[in-house]
Amino acid sequence: MIALGVESTADNLGIGVVAGDGRVLANVLDVHVPAEGGIHPREAARHHSECMGGAVRRALDEAGVNAKELDIIAFAQGPGLGPCLRTGATSARALACYLGRPLVGVNHCVAHVEVGRMATGAEDPLTLYVSGGNTIVSGYESGRYRIFGETLDIAVGNCLDTFARAAGLEYPGGPDIERWAARGEKLISLPYTVKGMDLSYSGLLTAVTAELQTGRHRVEDLCFSLQETAYAMLGEITERALAHTGKPELLLTGGVAANKRLGSIVRSIAEEHGAKPYVVPIRLAADNGAMIAWTGILAYNSGIRTPVESSHVNPNWRMDQVEIPWRS
Ligand code: ATP
Ligand code: FE2
Repeated sequence: MIALGVESTADNLGIGVVAGDGRVLANVLDVHVPAEGGIHPREAARHHSECMGGAVRRALDEAGVNAKELDIIAFAQGPGLGPCLRTGATSARALACYLGRPLVGVNHCVAHVEVGRMATGAEDPLTLYVSGGNTIVSGYESGRYRIFGETLDIAVGNCLDTFARAAGLEYPGGPDIERWAARGEKLISLPYTVKGMDLSYSGLLTAVTAELQTGRHRVEDLCFSLQETAYAMLGEITERALAHTGKPELLLTGGVAANKRLGSIVRSIAEEHGAKPYVVPIRLAADNGAMIAWTGILAYNSGIRTPVESSHVNPNWRMDQVEIPWRS
């Protein structure tokens, strides 16, 4: 069994080719960097449609696979930016129809968890998924990935990226903020907003940007304080969910998983609760096509198919709306 996966939920286009036993045969990434400001959905979608043909060809070449050898075509059906999702879905439908192969629509957030389990060997982890568009603590319970906590407004990665832009740092902001934070010394007081099991990052972003504009602080200290506050909030809800669920494993995934400080917080929480910590390798933690292909295989093997007529995208598709028959 060989699956091709199309990932186009936001600014990156990913095409992955994965075998039925989990071997990643190819994982091509075509990154779209906005000329200025944040992601513009239609600009990103245009990038995806221009790069699609080349990316599919590169992925097949890299995998050493002929298109006719593909058994299924999986695509990220949501959540994400409408125009970007539609571009990926249109290409996936065209490929599936042309090759006469089944189409499998995949939930992007579920794919982050599934590729994390596959890559690390974790079986039943509580997962902290942190990226530019998502901030979710989830775990499997009675047939679905239940959400134990999430952001109420912007994602933690979005908060980092927007602050980085205001401070004139590199895009995306996470890695540069991490470098500056390493030289920070002073903890500036910033809003720490945890509401029950959920988080809010918009007040933190407004406040740290206002502190930047006063010109009173070193950028190093602002980055340090932003990281400490943002990650402490994540740590609090993750720890509470871990204590509540008693999960034996804790998995960190998404683009922000590359952060060393967050990794060490996650490891210490896991240790405290006797859980095994796992961090997904970054090439599979950030958005990629292989995670979509792999989750497509799991779904297909459980009998899931997405007929073309019901393959419309769903920009607001929550992961806890998805049945997960392969885990029951
Ligand atoms: P999604 O569609 O899942 O929301 P995404 O489009 O944001 O994903 P990812 O590649 O998963 O894509 O994540 C990108 C985010 O990861 C950016 O916000 C970036 O700043 C952040 N990031 C990358 N490296 C680091 C790092 N070292 N520390 C903190 N954040 C990081
Ligand atoms: Fe993602």
